[in-house]
Amino acid sequence: MALLMRLCSFVVNVLLLPLHVIDAVGLYKLYKRVFPLCVYRISFTYNKKMHDKKKELFLTLPEFSKAGQLTILEIGCGSGTNFEYYPSGCKVICTDPNPHFQKYLKKSMDVNDHLKYEKFVVASGEDMGSVEDESVDVVVCTLVLCSVNSIPQTLREAHRILRPGGALYFIEHVVADPSSWAYFLQHVLQPAWYYFGDGCEVTRATWKHLEAAGFSELKLKHVEAPLFVVISPHIIGYAVK
Ligand SMILES: C[S@@+](CC[C@H](N)C(=O)[O-])C[C@H]1O[C@@H](n2cnc3c(N)ncnc32)[C@H](O)[C@@H]1O
Repeated sequence: MALLMRLCSFVVNVLLLPLHVIDAVGLYKLYKRVFPLCVYRISFTYNKKMHDKKKELFLTLPEFSKAGQLTILEIGCGSGTNFEYYPSGCKVICTDPNPHFQKYLKKSMDVNDHLKYEKFVVASGEDMGSVEDESVDVVVCTLVLCSVNSIPQTLREAHRILRPGGALYFIEHVVADPSSWAYFLQHVLQPAWYYFGDGCEVTRATWKHLEAAGFSELKLKHVEAPLFVVISPHIIGYAVK
């Protein structure tokens, strides 16, 4: 099985040679301009399929408000697909390393006028230096830890900016069970998915990093999302500082 997986992956890599060349000469970065439109369009279907799960998770957000006020910072906010699930009146700080998301973010902000938007910071999850230590109640990270360069560093940053008792909320697709076809397909299609998903990796065991990140409490569920098999295995939950 492992040999077949490697062989298929090799074939996919050969088929992707033109893309590898485009990447090597630096032209792939043009995709950063197109990717936000893809995410914006796909996010409607994703939210429809994940509606109950997102609703159930984010219903617990008010537990982390302080003196009746809730400040949320979103890492890799993309086009703002989570805004509809946030409680009325909470303050939202948006961060994403790709400034081309701003146009779609603005559309989501206009639709979700029950929130107070503080600012949009162009920053990667690994370095949110312009955000003060212990300054927010909740950090949200959905479908982002699959793309960051360093999960441990991103989690350190989330931990730093959370106030004591605050929580990191996450919804992430992860690597499948090694005995499954999903695992096989994830490894075979990974090279292509990387380009389609702007650096997204479907083979990450993200929960291991969350377990090792030094939070005082971790509520984490493994679920099968009703999505394409390669991104079906998900983890959902929150970690309390
Ligand atoms: C699949 S989109 C998800 C967007 C949004 N969080 C959602 O749930 O719809 C992945 C997002 O991660 C962002 N991203 C990629 N690398 C990142 C990094 N190193 N730090 C923070 N965000 C990153 C991308 O710009 C993009 O907005």
